[in-house]
Amino acid sequence: MAEKVATLHIEGRDPIELPILEGSMGPSAIDVRSLLAHGLLSFDPGFMSTASCESQITFIDGDKGLLLHRGYPIEQLAEHSDYLDVCHLLLYGDLPTAEQKKSFEHIITHHTMIHEQLAEMFQAFRRDAHPMAILTGVAGALAAFYHDSLDVNNERHREIAAHRLISKMPTLAAMAYKYSIGQPSIYPRNDLGYAGNFLHMMFSTPAAEYKVSPVIARAVDRIFILHADHEQNASTSTVRLAGSTGSNPFACIAAGIAALWGPAHGGANEAVVSMLEEIGDESRIDEYVAKAKDKSDPFRLMGFGHRVYKSYDPRAKVMKQTCDEVLTELGLQDEPLLKMAMKLEKIALEDEYFIKKKLYPNVDFYSGIILKAIGIPTEMFTVMFAIGRTPGWIAHWKEMLDQKSRISRPRQLYSGKTPRDVK
Ligand code: SDX
Repeated sequence: MAEKVATLHIEGRDPIELPILEGSMGPSAIDVRSLLAHGLLSFDPGFMSTASCESQITFIDGDKGLLLHRGYPIEQLAEHSDYLDVCHLLLYGDLPTAEQKKSFEHIITHHTMIHEQLAEMFQAFRRDAHPMAILTGVAGALAAFYHDSLDVNNERHREIAAHRLISKMPTLAAMAYKYSIGQPSIYPRNDLGYAGNFLHMMFSTPAAEYKVSPVIARAVDRIFILHADHEQNASTSTVRLAGSTGSNPFACIAAGIAALWGPAHGGANEAVVSMLEEIGDESRIDEYVAKAKDKSDPFRLMGFGHRVYKSYDPRAKVMKQTCDEVLTELGLQDEPLLKMAMKLEKIALEDEYFIKKKLYPNVDFYSGIILKAIGIPTEMFTVMFAIGRTPGWIAHWKEMLDQKSRISRPRQLYSGKTPRDVK
């Protein structure tokens, strides 16, 4: 079929024909790669209308509130799969067979320990350091210990690094928490599932084993699923860009963790709970909704809005259901924070400003309430997001390398000084 083209007509120039690329779903893309040859650039700060790559991992339809991982809707994965199923799906393109699941689970379970010298690195941090600061540092430091899997052009090295990162992220995260409260780190156990092992490392002590509740473990597993990937979000784009230089996987993931930390991105779950605590009482909700609408006020309703979703974030729906399950399990149905969140959600969804700007609750709006109910401290919320997002980051890093991508190097619209002499 004849290739569709977009023709650019600029006064005084010959028409420029740009190919239109079609994906399997979603918007078509105008291929602007030839623009520079015509002395032109596209201009799109924040990449609002830019496809930075071609990908087959995740598809989002912001208007329909659709999120697919390798074609599977997130709601179905959250209900029928567990987190390691989703890790396998993102990394290898399909849900694992029973045999593949057994082998994958064995590999991940048996790589959860970290080098004892890396454990000593935690001692270098202040006790009151934010766990994301520690995680950014120790994730990058993995490159100092695993020289045997740093050749990014070696497919087996890429796979080993992927396994190590998925296995070790919960261990590093729990160690960051234990260090911050002055408790000894707790070694992982091979007889626990992925989420249960994380809860064990977070809450067991040498004096008392934490009893993992299946309901809570399932809730944490589902939270990891809901955070596993989200196409070209800021932190994933950071990982892909870092990877395009040939940087090793551990350095790329450390870059992704650093990008995720921002309150506009992965830091929002921590910011949601801080915001609800600052509002303090349902009687003050209207005051804060007014602040969020006031252009002169930098305050935004954390957990609301999204670059892509202009309807309800499908993950928020599952997160809300999980929230109800956890609070019921823990007998916290009347948790004031949850009641305030539900009142705030209702008011915002009925408010003209939020309706017109299509601002809906996103994945972060309810996750913080669940994590707080489980006993995860607020400053660990974004760390939880980083654990969940690790397979997504790695899947995109591998895809970028498999595509033999060129180094990412955007240009700019220069509006600075024209040439001038010092003397
Ligand atoms: C995540 O990209 C991803 O996929 C991210 C993520 C993932 O899984 O990787 O989904 C995870 O980061 C979720 C988002 C978490 N962040 C927050 O909850 C922080 C609060 N939300 C906002 O900061 C904002 O909505 C963003 C950052 C999420 C989206 O920003 P955009 O797309 O740049 O939207 P915008 O800032 O251009 O907002 C459009 C309008 C603006 O008003 P106008 O300038 O058009 O008049 O809506 C307003 C904004 O002022 N607006 C808000 C608002 N979010 C946007 N007003 C009040 N409260 C808000 N939360």
